[in-house]
Amino acid sequence: MKKPLDTSALAQLFTAARSHNDWHDRAISDSDLQRLYDVWKYGPTSANCSPARVVFVRSEAARERLMPHLSSGNQAKTRAAPVCAIIGYDVKFYDRIPELFPHAPSARDWFTGSAEFADTTALRNSTLQGAYLMIAARAMGLDVGPMSGFDAAGVEREFFPDGDIRANFLCSLGVGKAEAVFERLPRLAFDDACELA
Ligand SMILES: Cc1cc2nc3c(=O)[nH]c(=O)nc-3n(C[C@H](O)[C@H](O)[C@H](O)COP(=O)(O)O)c2cc1C
Repeated sequence: MKKPLDTSALAQLFTAARSHNDWHDRAISDSDLQRLYDVWKYGPTSANCSPARVVFVRSEAARERLMPHLSSGNQAKTRAAPVCAIIGYDVKFYDRIPELFPHAPSARDWFTGSAEFADTTALRNSTLQGAYLMIAARAMGLDVGPMSGFDAAGVEREFFPDGDIRANFLCSLGVGKAEAVFERLPRLAFDDACELA
């Protein structure tokens, strides 16, 4: 067994980490985003299928293209964030399986027979990858602000015009303003969320 992370590391990742709503004016560089990718890409996915495709919206021009597709409550906070990641998923992720699962390239066929199974797999695994992205960002000292209040069809038209990528959720990244977080909400008790079978 590996050495468990200490309490302060767990606090940075989970117990003291918050969803952020306003942001300090602290830029995130391209190399920060590449280093971040080089961490979260290692989170596990089924058959290593890695369906997530991410657009990091940073420029003013790209931000303005995103704005009309956000719910009104998400616009100001996203405008203030140095980066907003659009976490999407490739519905034809299976075309990369021969490269990603080379010992069993025919695993591609598991997904081509059923669009429903392929879509479920892509959604499930891209959601996991988005979570890996968030936890990796926190591990690297950044804060996150995940959002699902947006018009997916609009975001897809604007940022994924080729038609094979669906928008899953958005996540702002940066250094959050601690004073702008909401009061911490309760979580379910162990017995309400878990069962020892
Ligand atoms: C997938 C997802 C979608 C969310 N959508 C929104 C959103 O559209 N707007 C918003 O202000 N917060 C959104 N949130 C933030 C949640 O409300 C927040 O994570 C939750 O209340 C827990 O807050 P905490 O991390 O500060 O404890 C979203 C969070 C997740 C994970």
